[in-house]
Amino acid sequence: MNDTLNKKPITLTKLNNMKTQGEKIACITAYDASFARVVDNAGADIVLVGDSLGMVIQGKKTTIPVKIEDMIYHSRIVASALQYSFLITDMPFMSFYTPEIALENASKLMQDGDAQMIKLEGNKSQLNIIEKLSQSDIPICAHIGLRPQSVHKIGGYKVHGKSDEEASLLLKEAIMIEELGADMILIECVSSSTAKILNQEIKIPIIGIGAGPDVDGQILVLYDILGITSGVSPKFVKNYMKDNNSIDQAIKSYIKEVKNKEYPAPEHCF
Ligand code: KIV
Repeated sequence: MNDTLNKKPITLTKLNNMKTQGEKIACITAYDASFARVVDNAGADIVLVGDSLGMVIQGKKTTIPVKIEDMIYHSRIVASALQYSFLITDMPFMSFYTPEIALENASKLMQDGDAQMIKLEGNKSQLNIIEKLSQSDIPICAHIGLRPQSVHKIGGYKVHGKSDEEASLLLKEAIMIEELGADMILIECVSSSTAKILNQEIKIPIIGIGAGPDVDGQILVLYDILGITSGVSPKFVKNYMKDNNSIDQAIKSYIKEVKNKEYPAPEHCF
């Protein structure tokens, strides 16, 4: 039985209203039509076709080798299965190194990949890209804090916003991003106290991963929820297969815990 058949599809307006009303936004990644159907049916508000597919689908060590063609392909097949969830697709490494190239690749993700919003991990010198895309009415989610595409440049995976100085830099960056026309911000591995400040100051929805409980929504990589990711899991990961006996129940349990503010618990936060 499809639980989402009678529900209106999620829109950006609905996501903004959820922020205003304090209703938590539950987000999960997906990379293929079968899992997308399960996640959509479970009631995820947002499905992200993340460039994490480089690691969990392609078996690479980082997200850096992922190409725009990979993102278009996975975005299109995920989109084909969604009836309810809002679809965001990642712009991979080097697909937005000038505003013109960003516009060309974002258009491909929307026209050929059926994305409803694109996400990009730009640094502070690439804020002009947000402005360019926004001027063409491309919905944008800016990914800040830990940016995995820059892992070699920033010296590894670490927690951001721990000192007052780092917190104020992150806040300045978020304010600029909002002013330039982004529609959403995703913050990764940010101290809970800094994330809370950002969430209070910024009007567009803020989705966190490893950013504590005081943000508008949470996202996890699907395969982390299902406990099948190889290697050491980051602190924020929770394996929902431990207490559930089907994939469907595990995903529903994650969504319920996000909505009820049970996830993330203190042990998942920095
Ligand atoms: O690529 C991805 O899956 C992501 C999430 C970790 C947020 O960016």
